[in-house]
Amino acid sequence: MSAEKVSVFVIHGPNLHLLGRREPDIYGSLSLEQINRALEEEGRNLGAELSIVQSNHEGEIVELIGDCDDKADALLINPAAYTHTSVAIRDAILAVSSPAVEVHISNIYRREEFRRESLIAPAAAGVIAGFGLDSYLLGLRAAVNLARKT
Ligand code: DQA
Repeated sequence: MSAEKVSVFVIHGPNLHLLGRREPDIYGSLSLEQINRALEEEGRNLGAELSIVQSNHEGEIVELIGDCDDKADALLINPAAYTHTSVAIRDAILAVSSPAVEVHISNIYRREEFRRESLIAPAAAGVIAGFGLDSYLLGLRAAVNLARKT
């Protein structure tokens, strides 16, 4: 793998700041801070510089993605509940040239019917779901590889 340094923008959507105490049977016991620390460490291993944001606001996420072209080579996003509702976030991803990897802690395909559709997935390079922290770490690896190809 090339040693070229890349930058990856990590966006956590709504309610993910509550990880660790939010439905731990579904989302596990790790806090968002612990996930972010693991991502930073993996980023260092992969030669990627991460910029990490959590937002509960759809419009803010749209703006962050819009800024991404200048600032990041790839995007790693867990859109959380907006996965299933947000045409605006899907359009924002389509509007920028940085490739996006969509991740989910839980396996959205074995949960409630309404979670089985992702409006974001058709705009993403790929989706990783159901592996908890590993969804993020695998997603980061994919994002870094995509960034190096673009
Ligand atoms: C989630 C799955 C979504 O359906 C849910 O709304 C979330 C988290 C996940 O990471 O498993 O908030 O994106």
